[in-house]
Amino acid sequence: MIVAVDGPAASGKGTLARAIARHYGVPHLDTGLLYRAVALCVARMELDPAVEADAVAACGFDEAVLADPALREDATGRTASIVSAHPLVRAALFQRQRRFAGQPGGAVLDGRDIGTVIAPEADAKLFVSATPRIRAQRRHAELKGRGGPTGPGPTGFDPNGFDPISFDRVLADIRARDQRDSARAAAPLAMAADAVLLDTSFLSIEAAVRKALDLVEARLSARR
Ligand code: CDP
Repeated sequence: MIVAVDGPAASGKGTLARAIARHYGVPHLDTGLLYRAVALCVARMELDPAVEADAVAACGFDEAVLADPALREDATGRTASIVSAHPLVRAALFQRQRRFAGQPGGAVLDGRDIGTVIAPEADAKLFVSATPRIRAQRRHAELKGRGGPTGPGPTGFDPNGFDPISFDRVLADIRARDQRDSARAAAPLAMAADAVLLDTSFLSIEAAVRKALDLVEARLSARR
């Protein structure tokens, strides 16, 4: 059983994918982490994420990077959306994702191109969405909860209580990322023709999980 969960930044796809995996007792892969690992290595090697050969050089990252907390930083997500536009980077990460999807017993994968490229044969495909404004609110709350980006300057953390992470900046970032992810030629963010849309804009986490499980179950029983 393969379940594909795709969607834009901060749509809730990761939370839903984890809940689905837990429900069916199968492993889950957050494929965004792989692109984030490439991004982090590019930054640490002081390479240029916009240069395909530089990004490809970072694809052989050490497995330990996948547990690095810096993967979750906003800057890493931004760089990930730059490196992920290179076809050779996507090709370098393809087999690993295919292997994960094909393991006996099944798997749940979340990302941007799971239902379209990585596992077009998936038994159930969800496309999780929410309005840009609501996704920005979620990401903003998440960043503030984490203490925000570190370092000096207008976006750095200010111990005196000044809100360093402006909502407008987060919203602009979400919009820029949507644009980059959807407009790229290689495996753009797109809903598979046989995916079902789940708009989480006005759903609590619990309600979204319930709805996601219902949708997946309906797909799986239609296939049985
Ligand atoms: O949830 P959020 O978008 O912040 O992060 P993510 O899912 O970890 O993805 C980070 C970036 O990696 C995205 O903006 C995409 O450009 C890229 N990505 C991709 O191209 N394909 C995937 N299957 C997963 C992520």
